[in-house]
Amino acid sequence: MTTLPAVEAVTSRAAYEAALQRLSEASQAYYAAGDSPLDDVTYDQLRLAVLAWEAQHPEDAAESPSGLVADGAAPVGDVAHTIRLLSLDNVFDAEGLVTWGTSLQRRLGRAPVGGFTVEPKIDGAAIAARYQAGRLTRIITRGDGSHGEDISHVIGQIDGLPEHLPVPATVEVRGEVVFTQEQFETANAVRTAHGAQVFANPRNGAAGTLRAKDRPYRLQLTFWAYGAVGLAGEPFLPSGATHAEILAAVSEAGVQTTAATAAGLHIVADLAEAQQRVDEIAALRAELPFGIDGVVIKVNDAGEQQAAGIGSRFPHWAIAVKLPAVERQTVLKDVVWEVGRTGVLAPTAVLVPVEIDGSTVTRATLHNPADIRRRDLHLGDTVTVYKAGDIIPRVQGAVVPLRPADAKEVPLPAECPNCGGPIDRRQERWRCAKGTACALPALIEYAAGREMLDLDGLGKTYVKALVESGVVTDVADLFALSLDQLTAATSSAKRAAKLAEQIESAKERPLSRVFCALGVLGTGRSMSRRIAGHFGTMENIRQADATALQEVEGIGPEKAPVIVEQVAALAPVIDKLVGAGVNMIEPQEASQAPGGGPLSGKIVVVTGKMTGPLEGWGRDAMNALIEKAGGRPGSSVSAKTSLLVAAPAAGGKPSSKAVKAAELGVEVLSPDAFAVLVSDYLD
Ligand code: IVH
Repeated sequence: MTTLPAVEAVTSRAAYEAALQRLSEASQAYYAAGDSPLDDVTYDQLRLAVLAWEAQHPEDAAESPSGLVADGAAPVGDVAHTIRLLSLDNVFDAEGLVTWGTSLQRRLGRAPVGGFTVEPKIDGAAIAARYQAGRLTRIITRGDGSHGEDISHVIGQIDGLPEHLPVPATVEVRGEVVFTQEQFETANAVRTAHGAQVFANPRNGAAGTLRAKDRPYRLQLTFWAYGAVGLAGEPFLPSGATHAEILAAVSEAGVQTTAATAAGLHIVADLAEAQQRVDEIAALRAELPFGIDGVVIKVNDAGEQQAAGIGSRFPHWAIAVKLPAVERQTVLKDVVWEVGRTGVLAPTAVLVPVEIDGSTVTRATLHNPADIRRRDLHLGDTVTVYKAGDIIPRVQGAVVPLRPADAKEVPLPAECPNCGGPIDRRQERWRCAKGTACALPALIEYAAGREMLDLDGLGKTYVKALVESGVVTDVADLFALSLDQLTAATSSAKRAAKLAEQIESAKERPLSRVFCALGVLGTGRSMSRRIAGHFGTMENIRQADATALQEVEGIGPEKAPVIVEQVAALAPVIDKLVGAGVNMIEPQEASQAPGGGPLSGKIVVVTGKMTGPLEGWGRDAMNALIEKAGGRPGSSVSAKTSLLVAAPAAGGKPSSKAVKAAELGVEVLSPDAFAVLVSDYLD
């Protein structure tokens, strides 16, 4: 498997100079056009390699730009900041936060009593915005913290940062400017229409947009304030205001603050509670409509902030808990097209494998042909890929400056990739002109699978015959087949009789299997079990709106309406199933351990081939077992994982999931030990 080259350790002066050069080029490109040829992970690895060399060669360190903001590449500008714009020190885990708490206590001589605030660390570009008597007069970039560039030309272009406030406040608000995901998509569409290069990702796009003066189009951005200071000798609030009070006053004055994000601004009593909020915000990350790269914890009380003091670059009273990088750059090798249940042609990007947040990503979703063109994607492009939590990875954009000379525009299909027939191109989402009929055989085969209706006598050839003869137009038609029709399809009265028997017993399958057999997108075996377990009957599922569906674990605001829409569209099929006497009720014990079970409330991840009593158990069967025993299956190891079931290391080398579990202190069990734990559920 080809993977991207890792950053090597710097072991010679020549390598050191080359690494400094790469860092400097990356920073300069980022500040010039907003596109960095390195992703954050690679940039950080390279920077650590440089710092490791400098630790051993102090003579180089003295001359080095590595101690400066953005390695000295940030454009500084000539507007003096009222008060230095400080950066934040980072920790990377709960342990780091505890260590920070200890040093804070040392500085204060006691534990803080005014509590802490917890808010998202928004991944955008920092600005200071000055309001004089309620009018936005100047916007300044962060620059080197002492001086920034005047970017007042973007006034009026930033949601959350109004030109006029409803009150005559004089204040300098400080915060982060970003493209939300939606603004980013629009920005790239506008850029493509103007023949400009697409942005590789929202953050780089926002940084470039703030500094661009002469574009023939305007792109809308969004602002969230995380602080405010007095201006022109006027204090904004009386001294002694807490951080939470300052943000509340900013919001009251009409400027959007971090408190208005879905992650919110919370006041907590101590760092244990703060860590809980960090975990909650981390879990929300995939659903936030903008990027975050951490969570910021601040001492709330002004007196305690002052007592903790500030260092040369960071305040001692605030800390960023960094979250793992969820975006990497890799190469787009190919785009493959699949035809979904409704006949929609869905493109998937095939990528050079890249590690993102503990898992190897080889594929990512693309939306439709128009979207591929809006993103100006070429085969061979270096692309930025985003993956957070359990969401399907998505391609954000191409890093156009890295495009190879021979890169070709992604080819779009000329005919249906499933049946070879014509394509209906009337909408953005292309469909096979045959619609549902194109993917029907695949859907019927899926529905007949062991985990769904379990019709093992219904092979591929018979499905094809039933569909082609027109007697099966959907899953429900299986239950209305006559012996004659089955005999014709299987060319055997004996086979037909056996199949008829299987179809008869399939009417008794639990709801979770019947629901799964419908092939609703995003509802595989595990999700179908959760949905059926939660709602109990098909009628309840049909009645559920998007809000009700979000009560089911793993269904977020993006997925819920899609499921509602599909269930509604399947109404005729479900009615036919009901009419045929198919069971529409979930027996409670089939989906979940009554009263808990040994895995109650636990998130369990499985890796490797199972052994011992679990030998031959696939991922679906393991997930079902976990759910039966009261737990919830997870796909990747994170701080939220309760337990990792790991097969013995092949060749003595532990899997990446086992390494991550060890780092995070997650309990690891062998398949044998796990089988003992859940032995009551191994039927
Ligand atoms: S507070 C005195 N709060 O992260 C404290 N910064 O890596 C100054 N950032 O320079 C910063 N979200 O540009 C703070 N909620 C937040 C933030 C935040 C994003 C940025 C900010 C800062 C950088 C440090």
